[in-house]
Amino acid sequence: MKKSIKTLTIRLFMTSLLALAATAVSAADSEAGKIKAITCTGCHGIANYNNVYPVYKVPKIGGQNEKYLISALQAYKNGDRNHLTMQAHAASLNQQDIADIAAWFASLK
Ligand code: HEC
Repeated sequence: MKKSIKTLTIRLFMTSLLALAATAVSAADSEAGKIKAITCTGCHGIANYNNVYPVYKVPKIGGQNEKYLISALQAYKNGDRNHLTMQAHAASLNQQDIADIAAWFASLK
């Protein structure tokens, strides 16, 4: 059982890597952003905008203004905005990722 979950996780990971590699486009792509935002939704839960991990107060970002999301993520990435968790997340995103993820969250109602 444990092993199959691990295998599944690895397969899922590889699939998302392939999906990322396949979307080397310059326009913001909210469908790509949806995939890239999977790790974000553990905290920025989407279904009812509650966070999944109750220890944190997590801002609701679904439906947030796209330009605001981009600037917030860039501020974490370049250290203008201080929050260790979000800095760690933003550091791993390139400009395309940020644009795609912002497009995805902005498209949510
Ligand atoms: C471990 C929980 C966690 C994860 C995972 C996480 N975030 Fe956050 N996020 C937070 C918290 C907590 C804050 C509030 C930080 C602060 O006070 O600046 C925040 C803030 C933000 C903000 C600023 C919101 C605002 O109203 O200014 C954005 C945008 C954001 N996160 C996007 C993301 C994206 C995109 C991802 C995935 C790449 C992500 N977050 C992953 C916890 C998380």
